[in-house]
Amino acid sequence: MTENPTHSLPSYLNPDDLGPWGIYLEQVERVTPYLGKLSKWVETLKRPKRTLIVDVPIQLDNGTIAHFEGYRVQHNTSRGPGKGGVRYHQDVTLSEVMALSAWMSVKSAAVNLPFGGAKGGIRIDPRLYSQPELERLTRRYTSEIGSIIGPNKDIPAPDVNTNAQTMAWMMDTYSMNVGATTTGVVTGKPISLGGSLGRVEATGRGVYTIACEAARDAGIALEGARICIQGFGNVGSTAARLFSDAGAKVLAIQDHTGTIYNPNGIDIIALLDYVEQEKGVAGAPGTEILPNEQFWQLDTDILVPAALENQINRHNADQVRARIVVEGANGPTSPEADDILNSKGIIVVPDVVANAGGVTVSYFEWVQDFSSFFWSEDEINERLGVIMKAAYKSMAGVAAEHKVSLRTAAFIVACARILEARQVRGLYP
Ligand SMILES: NC(=O)c1ccc[n+]([C@@H]2O[C@H](COP(=O)([O-])OP(=O)(O)OC[C@H]3O[C@@H](n4cnc5c(N)ncnc54)[C@H](O)[C@@H]3O)[C@@H](O)[C@H]2O)c1
Repeated sequence: MTENPTHSLPSYLNPDDLGPWGIYLEQVERVTPYLGKLSKWVETLKRPKRTLIVDVPIQLDNGTIAHFEGYRVQHNTSRGPGKGGVRYHQDVTLSEVMALSAWMSVKSAAVNLPFGGAKGGIRIDPRLYSQPELERLTRRYTSEIGSIIGPNKDIPAPDVNTNAQTMAWMMDTYSMNVGATTTGVVTGKPISLGGSLGRVEATGRGVYTIACEAARDAGIALEGARICIQGFGNVGSTAARLFSDAGAKVLAIQDHTGTIYNPNGIDIIALLDYVEQEKGVAGAPGTEILPNEQFWQLDTDILVPAALENQINRHNADQVRARIVVEGANGPTSPEADDILNSKGIIVVPDVVANAGGVTVSYFEWVQDFSSFFWSEDEINERLGVIMKAAYKSMAGVAAEHKVSLRTAAFIVACARILEARQVRGLYP
C-alpha cells in the first residue's frame, strides 16, 4: 500500500503507542474545523520541524564512562526562534519531548510572543549523579546540540530538574564554542549573568493576573473570594501571596506533605516562613489537616492546580466544586476530566495561557540580553500584566465567538497564528 505523504506519521514513532505526542495530535484534530482556509497548512503542526537525538558520553567521578540519550526538538519556528526548557529525567522519551515542544509552540503563539516551540531533555536520574558529573553532562549535551541552538535559532531554559546553574553552564559552553560571550542563548540564567528581575515570580504572577481576569468575567469579586491551591512551590506560593494581598481568602493548600485548611483564610506570609523551615505545609499553625482527596471537593471560587500533571482526572473531576480552575501546572487536567468539568459548567483556564508568565519574562530576558540594557522589576511586572491580559482577551473572545472552551479557544488562536505565519512565509523553495 502506498503511504499518503501528506498524512503519514513520522516513521520514528510507534503508531501503537504514540505517548504524549498522541494527546497533542488529538488536540490539533479538535481545533482543525475552526481554522478555516488555514487548515490547508495544518499538517505542518503534526510533525516537528527538526528532531535531534544525541549521545552524551561523560566520565563519571569513579573514572568509568557513561552514555546518556539527549534530545532537542524544534517543533515549529515559523514565528521566531524555538523556545523551550531542558528536562533531566529518567523517563524522558522522544514522544514526550516532541509533545512538550509542540505545546511550547502553542503557548508562545497563544501569548503572542515572537517565538516558536522547542524542548530538550536528557534521559538521566540526576539525583544519582554528583554536581561535577552534572556539569560535564550539561556541557557535553550543549556542545552536541550546539549547531541548532543560538539566540536567533533556539533558546533553551530550565525545566524539570534543571535550574539557573544549568543555564549558566549551557551559556558558558555555547559561548566558549562560538568564541564570544552570548548571554541570549538561554534564559532563566542567574541575575549576575544576564538573567531578568521578576523571572522567579513570573509564572505565579501570571497565574494570579489571569485568575483576576477570569473572575471578573464570571462576576466574582476577588476581595473575599475563596481560593484553593495545590502546590506551594515557586508557582503556587507566589500566586497564594498575590491572592492574599488582594484580599482573597486562601482556604486550603495541598503539597507533598498534606492538605491544610482554614475556613477563614490561611496566613500566607506566616506560611512562607513555616515552609522555609519545615519544607512542607503540613502542621502549619492555625490550620487543620484534611485528607488529601477532600481537597478537590472543597466549595471554592478558584482552584489552582500548581503542582503536577494529571491531578484532576476521571476519578475526582466529578467532585470538583470550584467555579473556575486556573491551570498553574502543565497538564494538570486529563482530557477526560476536562470534558467532565466543561459539562458541569466549570470554567477551566488552560495552562498554555494561565502559566505563560514564565516564558513571557524569559522573552523579556532575551530582549534585555540583546540590548544589554536591563529593566526594573516594576517595568517587568507591568509589561507582564499587559501581555497576559491581552492573551486572555484574545482567548476569551474566540471562546465566545465559537462557543467553545477556553482551552479549545487558546489552541485556535495559537494554531491560526502559527499557520498564518507559515502561509505568508510560503514554502521554500
Ligand atoms: N516555575 C515555572 O516558571 C513554571 C512555568 C510553567 C509551568 N510550571 C509548572 O508548574 C508546576 C509547579 O512548578 P513549580 O516551579 O512551582 O515547582 P516547585 O518544585 O517549586 O513546587 C512544586 C510543588 O508541588 C508540590 N507537590 C509535589 N508533589 C505533590 C503531590 N503528590 N501532591 C501535592 N503537591 C505536590 C510540592 O510540595 C511543591 O509545593 C509544574 O507543573 C511546572 O511544570 C512552572
